[in-house]
Amino acid sequence: DDGDHVPALVIGSGYGGAVAALRLTQAGIATAVVEMGMAWTTAGADGKVFCDMLDPDHRSYWLRTRTDQPVGYFLGIDANKSISRYTGVLDSEKFAGIRVYQGRGVGGGSLVNGGMAVVPQRDYFAQILPSVDVTSMYDTYFPRANAALGVNAIDTAWFETAACYRYARVSRDQAKASGYRTTFLNNVYDFGYMRQEQAGTVTRSALASEVIYGNNFGKRSLDKTYLAAAAATGRLTISAQHVVTAVAPASPAGYTVTMNQIDTAGRTVAVKTVRADRVFFAAGSVGTSKLLVAMRAQGQLPNLPAAVGQGWGNNGNVMVARAQHLWNTTGALESGMPAMGIDNWSDPAGPVFAEIAPFPAGTELWISLYLAITKNPNRAQFAYDVTTGSVGLSWQTAQNQPAVTAAKRLFDTINRAQATVYRSDLFGVNKVWGDDFTYHPLGGCVLDQATDNYGRLPGYPGLYVVDGSLIPGSTGVNPFVTITALAERNLEKILTTDVS
Ligand code: FDA
Repeated sequence: DDGDHVPALVIGSGYGGAVAALRLTQAGIATAVVEMGMAWTTAGADGKVFCDMLDPDHRSYWLRTRTDQPVGYFLGIDANKSISRYTGVLDSEKFAGIRVYQGRGVGGGSLVNGGMAVVPQRDYFAQILPSVDVTSMYDTYFPRANAALGVNAIDTAWFETAACYRYARVSRDQAKASGYRTTFLNNVYDFGYMRQEQAGTVTRSALASEVIYGNNFGKRSLDKTYLAAAAATGRLTISAQHVVTAVAPASPAGYTVTMNQIDTAGRTVAVKTVRADRVFFAAGSVGTSKLLVAMRAQGQLPNLPAAVGQGWGNNGNVMVARAQHLWNTTGALESGMPAMGIDNWSDPAGPVFAEIAPFPAGTELWISLYLAITKNPNRAQFAYDVTTGSVGLSWQTAQNQPAVTAAKRLFDTINRAQATVYRSDLFGVNKVWGDDFTYHPLGGCVLDQATDNYGRLPGYPGLYVVDGSLIPGSTGVNPFVTITALAERNLEKILTTDVS
């Protein structure tokens, strides 16, 4: 509430924020989490909390009057539709050269994502974060993160027979026949539940075209794992629909945090100021970077280092689809949770880790869709614009060319070997590559550059960064396990040395 004083305040409830919330409350510290999105616990008129991909409604997008689907076209025709403006669960945040998709709500990205829980390759992790001890990450923090996230592996025999993974088997067989290696992907979606969905004994979620706008069943999102465990300590409060707008030093100590309470139309209904001894920035790569860059420019946190706002990347994301031959059906029923990837990361000429993505349209479309993660070296910066009072991101669409080139090399080879072609009707008119959006924003407040080696902001004791902004633009795989494990490592250090 307005005027409150809290020992610890966490801005955002995604992976970094959920780890901070659990470890702080377990250490006996009363913790307040402030989240701009909604608490997704109440069913709508249709009896469901979330809408599906086939019929998105007001619950789908964050304050938009039209959907902005990642795969936004079909046969070259705009497939988006009008919706009413509401604090929906998926934000498509538009910058000059890229749209950045992010989850909004208690649980952050865990509400909307595909649940793929992938540990990065050890030598690549050592390259991207050279100041971090690799042995303790792989022996302690990655296993700790996987356990607390509820990661599970698919039954590989079931995978071979399940109708809902026909699309993945078709892509796998063609990748193998073209000389590439494939790998199963762990997930936080309960594969046991999915088996029952396939058997027809439970209400369908992953098998009912649910993903990106939330899952009504089956998914172990953060509200069911880390945040539920933090709440069980009795020391956690979560304020949903509160947008943090400012953080500044308080006198004699601590920080004042200013926030707008909003309604479901996004209108401010109250402005509150809270004092906190410690503030954990967990608003995500974009949210944390934007806040800190604005606070430095506006003079609330003037001594933040120049590296704050630098080193942002899109994890080399690029999407692409192939058209299958008529005899190679991908199936009318596709699980929304990917379970397999093409792993060509060790190819020095163009590392690619491509998740075999679903196209869950509910009907046979002969489409093989992929989200490729590449080693794109390009980076961008956040900068404050005094005239608009907002923070922009310098990324240009052309900076994604190295990602397109690497993905093209791999999928050209598969197309040649299989005598197939690209779909050019799904990302625009005559557009093969989905190169103007990302699901994986990373960086902007890089570990050991913008912060110390544990996420502490220099010059401001008690301010910490704990989310994806610490990771320098790339992890080589889907990022949430890396974000979670790094937060586990940093929180352990902070709790033993700063908070005792
Ligand atoms: P995250 O974005 O999760 O959380 C930040 C939170 O802070 C949000 O809830 C936001 O609303 C809140 N916030 C922001 N600004 C605020 C402010 N000023 N005040 C208050 N609150 C504020 N990754 C993966 O590993 N496997 C996968 O399968 C997928 N799939 C996938 C699909 C889709 C559609 C998307 C959009 C993303 C993925 N991802 C993914 C990416 C993954 O979800 C992402 O990397 C993490 O959620 C990032 O975790 P963070 O903790 O950094 O921020």
